[in-house]
Amino acid sequence: MKTILVTGAAGQIGSELTLALRERYGNDNVIATGHKTKPSDELFASGPFQFINCANLNSVAEVVKKYNVGTIHHLAAILSAVAEAKPQLAWDVNINGLYNVLEVAREYGCSVFTPSSIGAFGPTTPLDDTPQDTIQRPNTMYGVTKVAGELLCDYYFKRYGVDTRGVRYPGIISNVTLPGGGTTDYAVEIYYEAIKKKHYTCNLKAGTFLDMMYMPDAIKAAIDLMEAEPGVLKHRNAFNVSAMSFDPEIIAASIRRQIPEFSIDYDVDPVKQGIADTWPNNMNDSAARAEWGWQPEYDLEAMTKDMLKELSKKLKEG
Ligand code: SER
Repeated sequence: MKTILVTGAAGQIGSELTLALRERYGNDNVIATGHKTKPSDELFASGPFQFINCANLNSVAEVVKKYNVGTIHHLAAILSAVAEAKPQLAWDVNINGLYNVLEVAREYGCSVFTPSSIGAFGPTTPLDDTPQDTIQRPNTMYGVTKVAGELLCDYYFKRYGVDTRGVRYPGIISNVTLPGGGTTDYAVEIYYEAIKKKHYTCNLKAGTFLDMMYMPDAIKAAIDLMEAEPGVLKHRNAFNVSAMSFDPEIIAASIRRQIPEFSIDYDVDPVKQGIADTWPNNMNDSAARAEWGWQPEYDLEAMTKDMLKELSKKLKEG
């Protein structure tokens, strides 16, 4: 069998997607790669791991050749807040990295899954019930790289027949690996602080609505889309996918139903707030539902219960 390569395998999504892919397709058939971040012991022990640099084409090509790779889940990327602090780095990783992956995929006949994001929208996008096909004029470096990435993936399919597919992920909430420098990170941190301190100081304002998703659904989206029959896909890349939309007050209320003493106050980060204000309040994901049967399993209440249960265990052990 041709193998599956995961870039960014030590990251927030990669660390869990790699394990899910290994369970589904066999440990040795999923090659985990990272740049500098060391993978967890569990990930490292569960199958092949190699350090690569996606911004260097040969480094990607070598591992694809060595392991006879047929599918690349390209997750290595810089998130929105870090991208504003380091725009040149974001361009190099998010654009040159994706370009190299697509070039290698073209040469070796690989399929490619790449996440886009709610960050691919901007201030002139309709922010409520944001359509699949709409205005995309983001004013952040993260957004610029994500829109360009969507277009590049479409181009490689049309021009070279590379089987590219992708979703626009919302904020992803998980209890295994922390996200690194995104605008939606508050929705992860709030659960850790709820357990540790029963209080959270939020860096986005009350009333800031954003799309969100629990990690098991994010993994399901990647696997379901990559397993869909190609004939059913009208949009290949950048499917809107969402599971819930809330603001800090609503997630705090959901935590309070489990931890009644929990309280929230605000110390707004102007950079993150500025980014969040240009992103959708809630996306319309009917194209993903109609074309490949997208259906999330977790709503806010189910996610809150599971997050608090899993994190309580983890924080007690750790
Ligand atoms: N979670 C990401 C970020 O905040 C959105 O794609 O950067």
